[in-house]
Amino acid sequence: MNGKGALTLTLVIISNKIMSFIKIKGLYKIFGPDPKRVFPLLEKGLSKSAILEKTGCTVGINNASFEVEKGEVFVVMGLSGSGKSTVIRCLNRLIEPTRGVIEIDGKDVMKMNPASLLECRRKTMSMVFQHFGLLPHRSIVRNVEYGLEVAGVDVETRRAKALSALELVGLKGYEDQFPGELSGGMQQRVGLARALASDPEILLMDEAFSALDPLIRANMQDELLELQASMRKTIVFITHDLDEALKIGDRIAIMKDGEVKQIGTPEDILTDPADEYVRAFVQNVDKSKVMSAASIMRKPQTITIPKDGPHVAVRAMEKAGSSSIYVVDADRKFQGLLMIEDAVALEKKGIRDVRAVLYTELYAADPDTPVADLLSRAMTAKYPISILDDQCRLKGIVDRATVLAEVVGEDHEDTSTVPLERLLSESQKVDLEEINHG
Ligand SMILES: Nc1ncnc2c1ncn2[C@@H]1O[C@H](COP(=O)(O)OP(=O)(O)OP(=O)(O)O)[C@@H](O)[C@H]1O
Ligand SMILES: [Mg+2]
Repeated sequence: MNGKGALTLTLVIISNKIMSFIKIKGLYKIFGPDPKRVFPLLEKGLSKSAILEKTGCTVGINNASFEVEKGEVFVVMGLSGSGKSTVIRCLNRLIEPTRGVIEIDGKDVMKMNPASLLECRRKTMSMVFQHFGLLPHRSIVRNVEYGLEVAGVDVETRRAKALSALELVGLKGYEDQFPGELSGGMQQRVGLARALASDPEILLMDEAFSALDPLIRANMQDELLELQASMRKTIVFITHDLDEALKIGDRIAIMKDGEVKQIGTPEDILTDPADEYVRAFVQNVDKSKVMSAASIMRKPQTITIPKDGPHVAVRAMEKAGSSSIYVVDADRKFQGLLMIEDAVALEKKGIRDVRAVLYTELYAADPDTPVADLLSRAMTAKYPISILDDQCRLKGIVDRATVLAEVVGEDHEDTSTVPLERLLSESQKVDLEEINHG
């Protein structure tokens, strides 16, 4: 290896460091009298409920650590009381942590004096609340510019910023209405516009969509994702809804009793739940929407041209008991499927090049394709779906049975059908055989 490889590696490590925008380490929040005496009990492994009984203190957050990258949507999820709101409120110290490290963009939030904390809340992070938190007697535009007004921004500037934020969330034309005149979904758009008006780097969204009807909620999720594609804010998004978390999160942290139980991509969380608690959470999700082709594909049998010809192919197929084999070139670029009868014919004619007889009427998909999207194709296709990367290299294949098992779920036992044989008596079986053969 030359020195170039080492250099690249160093750069990656450095940029990784820069990327971590929000950092929380060993964070605790104990509510109640004399929180300090709770630490030894936590160290002993006492549960949240045992500690409450013993000390009257509630463990809000128990040794939470995570890092959020710039531009990432980081979802915190967990059941009611698991500490989600406490975590997000500790980030801007609306709740004073009992212990731990909080860094935003390399700055130690715990060491900030009241003035710089205020500045940080106004300029760096904005919050969007579950129940919108709009002021009923202010017009929409005056609600949106409220934060800027408090921060002393002049009327012209703040009005311009408020109007462009309203346009961003699709509420142009509503600026002079009042919150009560708007639907829930629109009110939450105003909440979002208010948070965006100061152009913060971080959006803190605590159950921001939970009060909305399912359809409106789904729309808001789509709109947030669309906005995020152009805004690239760093978003900490709290929800107790797993489907919402999977849809909008780049990564998800799962909390229970104040502890972070698992952090991972939606795919990680679904395929490899860290413990029973997480597993129970994910059991009811439609996995096929998030699982990718890559996670269910299998390695096909292949031959490589030009080094392999019909002899090698026939031998390999005979050995595996299969009637076809996948053909790739030296770069693993996919060439097609070779049928055994064609290979045998070539063998007889003494032709070594298999390219002329390859079957190429196959379906292909890229590794990120959700399993659900493969279903209809898998049902009608004659051969497995080839999974190819962007260089057309064969990464694997997915057959009908695997897709079905994934979409229906392995633990779903099909009780509506039984094998025909089980229904037939021995004599009937003989009859059937006669019919079939005669
Ligand atoms: N001000 C407070 N005083 C005492 N205990 C509190 C306070 N705020 C929160 N807690 C406790 O801390 C724990 C975490 O609460 P938190 O509000 O963070 O949960 P959550 O995950 O946001 O729940 P939800 O989904 O219901 O909003 C709970 O046991 C709660 O009772
Ligand atoms: Mg909460």
